[in-house]
Amino acid sequence: MAVGISKIVSALEPSATLAMAAKARELKAAGKTVYDFSVGEPDFTTPAHICEAAQKAMAAGHTHYTASGGIQELRVAIAKQYQATHGLEYSPQQVVVSNGAKHSLHNAFTVLCDPGDEVIIPAPYWVSYAELVKLTGAKPVIVPTEEKNDFKLTPAQLRAAITPKTKILLLCSPSNPTGSMYSPDDLGALADVVLEKNLVVMSDEIYERLIYGDNKFASFAAVRPGLAERTITINGVSKAYAMTGWRIGWTLAPLNVSKAMDSLQSQETSNPCSVSQYAALAALEGPQQCVSDMLAQFAKRREYVRERIAALPDVTCPNMGGAFYAFFNIQKHLGRKYGGVQVDNSAQWCLELLAQQGVATVMGSAFGAEGYARLSFATDMKTLEKGFAGIEAFLKS
Ligand SMILES: Cc1ncc(COP(=O)(O)O)c(C=O)c1O
Repeated sequence: MAVGISKIVSALEPSATLAMAAKARELKAAGKTVYDFSVGEPDFTTPAHICEAAQKAMAAGHTHYTASGGIQELRVAIAKQYQATHGLEYSPQQVVVSNGAKHSLHNAFTVLCDPGDEVIIPAPYWVSYAELVKLTGAKPVIVPTEEKNDFKLTPAQLRAAITPKTKILLLCSPSNPTGSMYSPDDLGALADVVLEKNLVVMSDEIYERLIYGDNKFASFAAVRPGLAERTITINGVSKAYAMTGWRIGWTLAPLNVSKAMDSLQSQETSNPCSVSQYAALAALEGPQQCVSDMLAQFAKRREYVRERIAALPDVTCPNMGGAFYAFFNIQKHLGRKYGGVQVDNSAQWCLELLAQQGVATVMGSAFGAEGYARLSFATDMKTLEKGFAGIEAFLKS
């Protein structure tokens, strides 16, 4: 007898980025050389002072359950950081620390969404948003954006997508998968529609610290008065401090939302990992040079990636204002044969690129944008050099 899986989970799509990474690992295990640009995680190890703080926390006996929403010191540190960087006032009770930003998003959707509610998600979107919405019984409403607008949702597109069932607008800036960024003015224009139409906003700001050139980051809740009362801000240590494995993320939200998330989490996971919370505290309160050093490396790689993509025939790619992804247009390369194999869509293109040249990227279709591929440049220069040689050889094949 096959044990039945619930309808809601059966309908979930597995993460395409993790699936491509698993495929790349499989090929590596079989002895093939693979240049892996599939996963969005810094290649740096967590800075030493953060690891030492974790060791100290263990030695001091911080190995027990903690308060479900996180240790008070960390919640205070997060609230202080938002006050200092964005002028936003949050009490520590409005901060809920979870097992990574993905978990924070899951908690937030779970406490906010009822079946039938609609959540507007601009595409291209990060792979998990729509699936996390579906888990609640709510409906993801995907709104395609345009490459010529740097993949940013316009106020007119937002207005057109709103129905009486719309509850939440999801924003991610800088964006995974495109690296594009909303300027403070762009956010202000969207905020006017949000206020007029009485929407809640989920603002994923996990790439806040990874910004290039003159781009200016603004936290959505800070761009107009009254937004903090309707915004759930998501952030964490995974990307800025190279701490993906520690699993610490958080939300800043109106008090009733934070309380609901705290009680949900108390039933779900009790609390985020105690030792990781002390490591995250050291990340926020310790020296910040490590973030600047990693950013400088990412900036060099971004320049390199921009040059190499610009030199690829018939490929376009909007500017990456932040994060560590390039999302490039391969539409002119579809409907062709590569090494004798017919390739008609982005999934086939990425799979053949991996099979023929050992270069792992992720198909745009996984992010709701057919005809594109995402390349993560959170990897060393040598791998980038060899990977681009592979992409060039593939295009010529
Ligand atoms: C846009 C975005 N939000 C959230 C996350 C999840 O981060 P975490 O590792 O903290 O769960 C990711 C990770 O790839 C991401 O790209």
